[in-house]
Amino acid sequence: MKIAVLPGDGIGPEIVAQAVKVMKALSSDGLKLEMEEAPIGGAGYDAAGDPLPASTLELAKAADAVLLGAVGGPRYDVLDRPLRPERGLLRIRKEMNLFANLRPAFLYPELASASTLRPEVVAGLDIMIVRELTGDVYFGQPRGIETRPSPNGGSERVGFNTMLYAESEVRRVAHVAFGIAMKRGKKLCSVEKANVLECSELWKEVVLEVAKDYPEVELSHMYVDNAAMQLVRNPRQFDVIVTGNIFGDILSDEASMLTGSIGMLASASLDQNNKGMYEPIHGSAPDIAGKDIANPLATILSVAMMLRYTLNQEAAAQRIENAVKKVLAQGLRTADIFTEGTQKVSCSQMGDAVVKQL
Ligand code: IPM
Ligand code: MG
Repeated sequence: MKIAVLPGDGIGPEIVAQAVKVMKALSSDGLKLEMEEAPIGGAGYDAAGDPLPASTLELAKAADAVLLGAVGGPRYDVLDRPLRPERGLLRIRKEMNLFANLRPAFLYPELASASTLRPEVVAGLDIMIVRELTGDVYFGQPRGIETRPSPNGGSERVGFNTMLYAESEVRRVAHVAFGIAMKRGKKLCSVEKANVLECSELWKEVVLEVAKDYPEVELSHMYVDNAAMQLVRNPRQFDVIVTGNIFGDILSDEASMLTGSIGMLASASLDQNNKGMYEPIHGSAPDIAGKDIANPLATILSVAMMLRYTLNQEAAAQRIENAVKKVLAQGLRTADIFTEGTQKVSCSQMGDAVVKQL
């Protein structure tokens, strides 16, 4: 099985290096995982003047699955928008048609005290956010910044984006979400802002239509502002959440903190055939890059998701997840999840500890 490995920027290379150790350990144990690296984001710009070099996209498309670290950094914020690292990430998602973004928020019991919420609120938390990833205000046209007449006379610049969903886009991600709900607790909450936005009104209508194919799933609807509030008030009411690109971006960061650290959460971005790209949901954290203190567990857990969803290696996926549970039970913690009485380890020490448990 060919894995395209795209480390990216900031802490990307250090966390991906730990995930590569894990994949090598599995390979020496019978799985045939062939890895090939390519630059993306700022690294792509540095190497080829493009945040998604053609050769990187080609490698990703030819591979069975893609593992990505993170992209972005202050050095690149001065570039024209199309050359910025984030645009490379958005383009690879779009080019590979990775419309279904699965972002689980799962609380490891050992980390209950690392959450900023009271342990009794988050204990047992296990939510799956299904975020639509290739539509919405991220991609809608028209978009831009231009000069227009000002209401007070004269002219001024306006910035604009278009929130747009075609019903086919809503339908396919709704099917993915219902399918996942069927394999979990059979509860799905569709999150939108249908009290204000036409785009959300259509979203809700289509979700209701798709629901007819899944009579066993208990479907609810929630406005995004309420969902943001409910996530911290009583997060355990949720099983699967399905939502659009921008709402899912925000809610998944929020949900991650319920679990103690954004450094713990993996994600899968899948196309119609379950081919996918796997990445931690956190960013490139330029402030701590190169210091060997980042948490590699989200990236390592992304490899587990890759084995489960794209490579159909459930047993290997569980081996990784169990190894992660064991290192946490041993009390090993990177700085982001460190609490009194546990043992602080570096990024590479954490990677080694997981390999040892494997
Ligand atoms: C994410 C990130 C990206 C997004 C950025 C880096 C473009 O925040 O994957 O959640 O907004 O989708
Ligand atoms: Mg985000």
